[in-house]
Amino acid sequence: MSDPIHVSSVRELSRNIGNQVILSGWLDNKRSSGKIAFLQVRCGGGTVQAVAGRKDVSDEAWADIEKVTQESTIRLTGTVKEEKRSPSGVEIQLAGFEILHLTQDFPITPKEHGTAFLMEHRHLWLRSSRQRSALRVRSEVEQAIRDFFYERDFTLIDSPILTPAACEGTSNLFETDYFGDKAYLSQSGQLYLEPAAAALGKVYCFGPTFRAEKSKTRRHLMEFWMVEPEIPFLEFDGLCDLTEEFVAYLVRRVLERCQPELKVLERDQSKLEAIVPPFPRITYTEAVERLNKAGNPIVWGDDFGGDEETILASQFDRPVLVSRFPAAFKAFYMQPAPEDDRVVLGVDLLAPEGYGEIIGGSQRIHDHDLLLQRIRQHDLPLEAFQWYLDVRKYGAYPHSGFGMGIERFVAWMCGLSHLRETIPYPRMLYKIYP
Ligand code: 4AD
Ligand code: MG
Repeated sequence: MSDPIHVSSVRELSRNIGNQVILSGWLDNKRSSGKIAFLQVRCGGGTVQAVAGRKDVSDEAWADIEKVTQESTIRLTGTVKEEKRSPSGVEIQLAGFEILHLTQDFPITPKEHGTAFLMEHRHLWLRSSRQRSALRVRSEVEQAIRDFFYERDFTLIDSPILTPAACEGTSNLFETDYFGDKAYLSQSGQLYLEPAAAALGKVYCFGPTFRAEKSKTRRHLMEFWMVEPEIPFLEFDGLCDLTEEFVAYLVRRVLERCQPELKVLERDQSKLEAIVPPFPRITYTEAVERLNKAGNPIVWGDDFGGDEETILASQFDRPVLVSRFPAAFKAFYMQPAPEDDRVVLGVDLLAPEGYGEIIGGSQRIHDHDLLLQRIRQHDLPLEAFQWYLDVRKYGAYPHSGFGMGIERFVAWMCGLSHLRETIPYPRMLYKIYP
């Protein structure tokens, strides 16, 4: 017989049906009758069941199987069998078993724990099946994002994290000392994408962004990952089309490739299957009328909060694009609407089921003097924005882009009510451990 093959993931196991393999991993769970034992072993990409008959293994291996505890590290040898009833599609018939490290008193047991306790043990909580599933959905979404832009000839631009200026208002900046000067952790890579788009055409960035959000909500993190495309010569309607195409692509990808995870998360998939274009498009002014009709007292000029977003989104079975917001509460760089300069060509995509704003985007001001005027009106330090104005001095061009916080998107895909479970180590108000 040939030497056993070393494998490390469920996928590799499924390519080795009939073969002898060696697999190292962690014990998720165990059931034993004294004659036969069923071990749930966690390895790359999921768990696999290993079955050990008392007579199939040595006395020493059987003693270890009896003794092994939850979350111990183990190494097993066995034959891979096809098993249609198992989520992994395979099972291992054990021939050998070894404990590499015997874990005592793993703090997270199959019983219920409170969220505060789980958050304190986030580094261990990651091992739970729901947490693993959410993070695998996240990983798939990140890969799908890169594929979407790669397939459409975008160039990836890594924007800086340390910046001298604010992109999205000055109220939630993380400030740090930069050799005697002030620097801020980036709130958005957008300002750096705009000059890069003049160099490279369609571009996008995808990285961590930081906002010192002083309020404690289930939809805000201090550190989150944002993907931001920026497209030269794309105007507002084209931006809305791209937003719709992007979201529909990502939802389809999750449905296609994350079935095991969505099942663990008990996601109602019919809600996701309904996410197909065209998405409804309404203006801010229409949205205010709809809200008033629904009994919400908002007046024209007020920004939406979570409540308003939830009411609006609940009126549709797919995401809704809300556009043309009052300039007064939107970012300084948004292009005024041609028909009414009190409103800007900004668009928010609101997801259904209470998930609210997932994406914010706009056409950008490309006129130098108008942008200068807006920087002054917003009381922003002109010195810090000279380079940004250069884009409007040398080969100005109309352009648009958007930003999506991927934790909000992942929460929606997974049906999770709080963003903290969509990122491996959430950074929340007053909470930076572990
Ligand atoms: O609407 P925002 O502030 O837009 C921008 O930053 C633009 N510069 C993007 C662009 O046009 N290039 O943020 C974009 C998205 C939001 O729609 C939301 O999904 C997410 O970023 N987001 C947050 N996610 C988690 N926690 C927070 N504190 C977030 N703040 C924004
Ligand atoms: Mg926004």
